[in-house]
Amino acid sequence: MIEILPSLLAADFARLGEQIACVTGAGAKFLHFDVMDGHFVPNISFGLPVLESLRKSTRLTLDVHLMIADADSYAARFVTAGADCVSVHQEACPNLDRTLRAIQGEGAKAGVVLNPATPLATLEHVLPFVDYVLLMSVNPGYGGQRFIPYVLDKVRALKARRDELGLPFAIEIDGGVSVDNVGMVAAAGVDWVVAGSSVFGAADPAKAVADMRRAALDATARVA
Ligand code: DX5
Ligand code: ZN
Repeated sequence: MIEILPSLLAADFARLGEQIACVTGAGAKFLHFDVMDGHFVPNISFGLPVLESLRKSTRLTLDVHLMIADADSYAARFVTAGADCVSVHQEACPNLDRTLRAIQGEGAKAGVVLNPATPLATLEHVLPFVDYVLLMSVNPGYGGQRFIPYVLDKVRALKARRDELGLPFAIEIDGGVSVDNVGMVAAAGVDWVVAGSSVFGAADPAKAVADMRRAALDATARVA
């Protein structure tokens, strides 16, 4: 089942509880939580204390996307702070196997993220045990950027490889997805769709989530 994951990066931080209640009411099952350190990406967002507070106030699945240079040292701490899923960038993890297994060892789902220009082949050896693969459809660091279309080819190729190997990992996409292109994204084979500005930048975030889910489901029904 396809899921729309509202990205809190685009929320109004002064009204976070209210905004989460709004997308929860619209049927969101996950929240996407972008951690940026000003090193791996040229921007700084939020971190452990904010996640701890959110954990106390929501039952939704918390999907933490670490855009940090030293993911190895911090990934497990995000699980302790309340993450259900933690993803790390292949580009930031020289010890990727160890980092992913450490996340799973703490009891969370482990995801690996690829920037748009990083080839899928770099994941070949971790695919058998990852819980999800996140394909960036923008260069990470900012919300509200334009979707990079060649990432759809990566989605299709990854889905084909998953089928070939008979593996269960989920495919997630992040960046520049809106109600206008979510159908294409879903038809290509994405399971989890992150949406920041197209949800929290909308006049009615709950309607935006519902509209995106409907467009995604319609597109996958056409493909099936
Ligand atoms: C970008 C972040 C995204 C961001 C997406 O580096 O990883 O999760 O919130 O924002 P939109 O959906 O506005 O492109
Ligand atoms: Zn993200």
